[in-house]
Amino acid sequence: MAIRVVKPAKKFAGSPIIPGDKSVSHRGLIFGALSTGTTVITNLLNSGDVNSTASCLRQMGATIENKTENGTRKTFVTGLGSRGLQSPQQILDCGNSGTTMRLLMGVLCGIPGFKAQMTGDSSLVKRPMKRVAEPLRQMGGEFALMGGDFAPLTLSGHRLKAIEYELKIASAQIKTAIVMAALQAEGTTRIFGEIHSRDHTERLLKHFGVEVQSNAHEIKVPGGQKFIANKLNVPSDPSTAAFWLAGACLVSGSKLELHNVSLNQTRIGFVRALEKMGAQIELIKTEENPEPMGTIRITPGPLRGIILSESEIPSLIDELPMLAVLATQATGVTEVTGAEELRVKETDRIEAVATNLRAMGAIIETRPDGFRIVGPQKLRGAVINSYHDHRIAMAFSIATLIASGESTIEGSECVGISYPEFFETLDELTK
Ligand code: S3P
Repeated sequence: MAIRVVKPAKKFAGSPIIPGDKSVSHRGLIFGALSTGTTVITNLLNSGDVNSTASCLRQMGATIENKTENGTRKTFVTGLGSRGLQSPQQILDCGNSGTTMRLLMGVLCGIPGFKAQMTGDSSLVKRPMKRVAEPLRQMGGEFALMGGDFAPLTLSGHRLKAIEYELKIASAQIKTAIVMAALQAEGTTRIFGEIHSRDHTERLLKHFGVEVQSNAHEIKVPGGQKFIANKLNVPSDPSTAAFWLAGACLVSGSKLELHNVSLNQTRIGFVRALEKMGAQIELIKTEENPEPMGTIRITPGPLRGIILSESEIPSLIDELPMLAVLATQATGVTEVTGAEELRVKETDRIEAVATNLRAMGAIIETRPDGFRIVGPQKLRGAVINSYHDHRIAMAFSIATLIASGESTIEGSECVGISYPEFFETLDELTK
């Protein structure tokens, strides 16, 4: 286990390059592998989770190659067509990546005769999978889950039929798994209910020549469609940018400008929350399709507490640990409700945030679906337990920048799941 010492910062300034968006990267690789032709991806995230997706796809016959041309890293995905993936000889190891496992469950269960076993690391095997298997079973997919809900799992592909499905959890992973299966099914699948999670699947499918009709109330997916290879430039990840935006809000005299960041409305809830907390933020859009992206400029101001409720949560779900840290420095009450999904992420993020904030001397009240923090509060340096969760390690590295002493981040190597260059960039910004 790696241990990293992080020191309080006197300075925070720069314009770091933010790596590619994790959600878009997974989808780019998967959609490329299902296409006819070669998909060329630029700015693909090179991290543990995305590499899990790439290695699973390679095990099923896809060719994925990285080449550097004129200083730009490009990823070439040679597709096998929508039913071309072959049953793997070995168990598919999804590592720490819930997105890899859940999206592939949807993709693979509609290939008749396909068989695979899937597993993951000690965190992933504790995360619920029945929520995905259940709609896919209604379509005709076959799954055997450990203890009825978990990986390791086995999957058998069959001919699928379209369903009408009410999504009860606002999860893009479940939504995408159903959409992917629907593309193999007979008839048109309709998904309604909690469909307002990140919309990368809906946007990128269109980019790959697939028809999906979506509005605020429903998503309709006609079955039996083909993917056509395309070029894809992955926007920089707003969930990664969030750590630096938070750093800028905390360290006085900071200066920060970020380029090519995803400005997708379903992903920038944290930017909106920072505005409500008192930061001035300028968003300058430079591209719209298939994913909006552009520049973020931030002028920090004194922070005030905010109330966040259920409907806002999906657009900043991965940023809530960082938001909790900011809340300790905001004047007044910050309250988050409707975020029970935090309990089934890479770790129970409500408990992980509470344990580490308390270790730093802060007071936080936890709820089954969120937390309440009254600020401002002083933070002291502490031993931080990352729980091997990348977002916890990064959020508490940023917390340390304003603590009264240095902190040690235990299990700091987990940042490699989404942002391998995190500590190098932190050193650059604070030196
Ligand atoms: C993701 C969706 C979210 C998010 C995860 C990536 C995706 O999970 O937390 O980091 O790429 O679809 P849920 O769908 O479980 O909310």
